[in-house]
Amino acid sequence: MIKGCMKKGCLILYILFVIGCGQSNPPFEEDRRFAPRTDPIIVRIPTAEITKNRPEGPIDSTFPQLVERGGVMYRPENLSPQFQAQLSNLIQEYFGTPAHPLIHLSPSSHESANGTNETNGTGLSENDRLQLQQLEHSLTNQLMHNPEQCQEGGRLYRRHCLQCHGMEGDGRGPTGSWIFPHPRDFRSGFFKYVSSQNHPGRPLINDLQRTLKRGIPGTSMPSFALLDDHSRDAIISFVIYLSIRGEVERAVMLNYLQEEDSENTELSANEIERTLKKIVLRWLEVQDHGALKVPDPLLENQVNENGSGPGINSSSNENSAKSEIKFANEIERGYRLFMSAGSCSQCHTNFGRDALYRFDAWGSLVKPLDLTQKERHGGDFAADIYYRLKNGIFPSQMPSLTNFSDADIIDLVRFVQAIPYPRQLPPNIRTSIYPDLKLEK
Ligand code: HEC
Ligand code: HEC
Repeated sequence: MIKGCMKKGCLILYILFVIGCGQSNPPFEEDRRFAPRTDPIIVRIPTAEITKNRPEGPIDSTFPQLVERGGVMYRPENLSPQFQAQLSNLIQEYFGTPAHPLIHLSPSSHESANGTNETNGTGLSENDRLQLQQLEHSLTNQLMHNPEQCQEGGRLYRRHCLQCHGMEGDGRGPTGSWIFPHPRDFRSGFFKYVSSQNHPGRPLINDLQRTLKRGIPGTSMPSFALLDDHSRDAIISFVIYLSIRGEVERAVMLNYLQEEDSENTELSANEIERTLKKIVLRWLEVQDHGALKVPDPLLENQVNENGSGPGINSSSNENSAKSEIKFANEIERGYRLFMSAGSCSQCHTNFGRDALYRFDAWGSLVKPLDLTQKERHGGDFAADIYYRLKNGIFPSQMPSLTNFSDADIIDLVRFVQAIPYPRQLPPNIRTSIYPDLKLEK
């Protein structure tokens, strides 16, 4: 009772915090700059699991272990000071500053040409100019990128997200380092909770909207359901901007760090531009392909937003007995798939209770979820679980199920949804998962 009241009290305080005190979201100072990247760029992570203990300390504290176990990373501090200064200036030319965030796809094309053929005062051929225009158009329309929205997003980000995700979107904000799992570093371009279908770990706008609305249950990522759609969209515009900016910086740095003789190489604006266009095009391709199609049976009997079990239809009509038998069969088949050799149970040991931590794409540690607990980070609707299983969780090394039929995945979804609810499990499976449990009559 007291606990419940306290929870309510917290909620009211939180609501007041979000909508109440101080409506203004101050802009960034005009002279504020994004800091150049200094943390290591991770290009390979060890695949084996490593420890049962929850890691302590900031994100970078696991890096020595990562290298020890065969992971590979590059340090920006090995770039020459001249290169770093040059890169910093160019990145600012293409991406602006915190107070004026904007992606300039081709800043040089706005200057006058210096004598090439086929130009029309922009330094570009007619063809290039059209392509550029089209890309700018798509950036605005499909990735919600325009000066006002991005700037507003920046102000809101400063207030609601920066303390965890950091000014540069590196997941290393003032409180970020000490939170576990660590806040997302947007600069890799990878996300966990995606429903996209062509590039692994790359999000649809919809996925970001879903994350912001719901938060990530079981982690410190809060829900921003109390903000209005307009504000959330503006924030997402800024998150995408940070992600693209960070990914360009990362790719260009890496290119030079991997070169044998990087001391003597000059950085050209051309390279930034090529990298930027490639990354924007990939974002657009992901949006064009849209979301995975969720099989119809998984869209029936949806449970409420808080999720409470696999949604066995309890209404006492004639079909309910039939559908219960169908569910039981699906759960049974899902259980067998889960337990079969080389499958889920290999990582989710003892249904995840005894799972070991392993490295994720950011070089921090992540544990295959304890599936006997009710919380699912990416949501517990059947559709959410379907996305997680079909796509895997790419940055966390959970494999996708590309070779599985939808029928198999449906069975797995039913099983995964039922695991935390012993009463809904067929008796033999219940005993396997909860050997000590005695259900009251
Ligand atoms: C209290 C800290 C905190 C705050 C504040 C916070 N986040 Fe997060 N956020 C996290 C953590 C922790 C994760 C990673 C959870 C995980 O890895 O499962 C995360 C993950 C994310 C992700 C990645 C989801 C995915 O699919 O990988 C996005 C996007 C995100 N946050 C956006 C935001 C935005 C935008 C704001 C502000 C409106 C915000 N966050 C505020 C802690 C925070
Ligand atoms: C290579 C190891 C590995 C395998 C194999 C694996 N998983 Fe996972 N799984 C993970 C990790 C790691 C996470 C946690 C990801 C995170 O929090 O970033 C996870 C998380 C999950 C989640 C939670 C998703 C959420 O929203 O929180 C579910 C459900 C899940 N796995 C089901 C399965 C099923 C079913 C299979 C077999 C088809 C499977 N896993 C196979 C490693 C694995």
